[in-house]
Amino acid sequence: MDLLLLEKTLLGLFAAITLSIVISKLRGKRLRLPPGPVPVPIFGNWLQVGDDLNHRNLAALARKFGDAFLLRMGQRNLVVVSSPPLAREVLHTQGVEFGSRTRNVVFDIFTGKGQDMVFTVYGDHWRKMRRIMTVPFFTNKVVQQYHTGWEAEAQSVVDDVRADPKAATDGIVLRNRLQLMMYNNMYRIMFDRRFDSMNDPLFLQLKALNGERSRLAQSFEYNYGDFIPILRPFLRGYLKICKEVKERRLKLFKDYFLEERKKLSSTKPSNNAELKCAIDHILDAQNKGEINEDNVLYIVENINVAAIETTLWSIEWGIAELVNHPEIQKKLRNELDAVLGPGNPITEPDTHKLPYLQAVIKETLRFRMAIPLLVPHMNLHDAKLGGYDIPAESKILVNAWLLANNPEQWKKPEEFRPERFLEEESHVEANGNDFRYLPFGVGRRSCPGIILALPILGITIGRLVQNFELLPPPGQDKLDTTEKGGQFSLHILKHYTVVAKPRVF
Ligand code: HEM
Repeated sequence: MDLLLLEKTLLGLFAAITLSIVISKLRGKRLRLPPGPVPVPIFGNWLQVGDDLNHRNLAALARKFGDAFLLRMGQRNLVVVSSPPLAREVLHTQGVEFGSRTRNVVFDIFTGKGQDMVFTVYGDHWRKMRRIMTVPFFTNKVVQQYHTGWEAEAQSVVDDVRADPKAATDGIVLRNRLQLMMYNNMYRIMFDRRFDSMNDPLFLQLKALNGERSRLAQSFEYNYGDFIPILRPFLRGYLKICKEVKERRLKLFKDYFLEERKKLSSTKPSNNAELKCAIDHILDAQNKGEINEDNVLYIVENINVAAIETTLWSIEWGIAELVNHPEIQKKLRNELDAVLGPGNPITEPDTHKLPYLQAVIKETLRFRMAIPLLVPHMNLHDAKLGGYDIPAESKILVNAWLLANNPEQWKKPEEFRPERFLEEESHVEANGNDFRYLPFGVGRRSCPGIILALPILGITIGRLVQNFELLPPPGQDKLDTTEKGGQFSLHILKHYTVVAKPRVF
């Protein structure tokens, strides 16, 4: 331990405690803040509520303190919203006021202090980035252009699993192969590229660096230095690793993908819009001077995280629930056979004709939300919410998981039951038409990738269920679905092994 550093920190801590007590005594301004546990100087509520502020722990606190409550996490204000009317207020009615994002010390590093789109404040830069990304990524035309590619990728998963004798006996970690599929789905759109195998060295590097980026950013272990600036020196080692991972990742995107694509377009210039991949459009915007090269790289960074992992986690959850609910799996297979005919592989246009498949996907996104707290929102200026004062630059978490799993609002929400979306909740869509169900958020900062995620989920889950009976591995009657929450993410703790018994047509 660096004694000098410790001594300085303790002295600083003492000075800061004294100062904060004096300031709070002197401060005349009385705010009507949301309820919450009583904070102590410097630490706020951090020592009371701990680090693991996942959706379930926040739901327990909401039961105690109400639909809007405030936690003082060291120097940071955290407001948690847990009712449909308040979610409407944050995301829709006051969508501009609460439409910014907070970044903590780690997200500052990975996004170059908001030079990206996902983590930038609401304003001109965000508007420009969202506009530039819409045509190449987020329109129905993109779905039309790429769905046959997604179908081919899903088929390639099916073929590989069929060819692996272990899959039908001991079982395989299907997720590993699905991860390659998701990279291919998105890298086709971004760069018109795909990776041939799970051993492709470039794929291995990308996977490792993106995995590190997510682990480092979603971990709770750096909270102390983020909440209490005076402790930040102790975070130096952690932040150094974050910076290294960030540099290596951006360099990989630049050297192996951006530069390659630039070279290709300079040797084979094409004015044919159909042959352009997303990055060509983004580079056009750079050439016009609308954005700079860093912004281009951060767009690639955003897609690597926002698109690939969320969709992969959702597929992984969906398969786990189907394995653990064989009657639902069978019902889904029967629908696929009845509507498409046994052995006729599902395509994107078919997904619209399969109500039970749609219900299974909706139920997966309700029960196992990949982003259960949405991406944190923020109010740039002092604001009002539900009659409370919300100080400027508060982090606003909408507990979307609780909204969709609240027994006061849903019939037996603890049950995985797709039928609810064909019966009592048949009007509810994933696009946010009901404030109890917001797996993609709603409003200005909602997920633009929903247009790609839903068909990819349908094609992938559909093809797997058409081709295989999916079962737990020998000696197990259920898959372990323990959750792992992060700063705002949720995935399965253990990547399970699943037996895939091929069907014969
Ligand atoms: C099942 C898959 C997915 C889920 C559950 C999901 C969920 C979400 C959620 C909850 C948000 C935050 C909404 C808010 O803060 O109000 C978000 C934002 C975002 N998502 Fe997704 N997403 C998925 C797939 C995708 C895909 C495939 C892409 C891109 C191709 C994508 C791109 C983005 C972007 C760029 C944002 C930031 C929007 C902004 O800040 O303006 N997502 N997503």
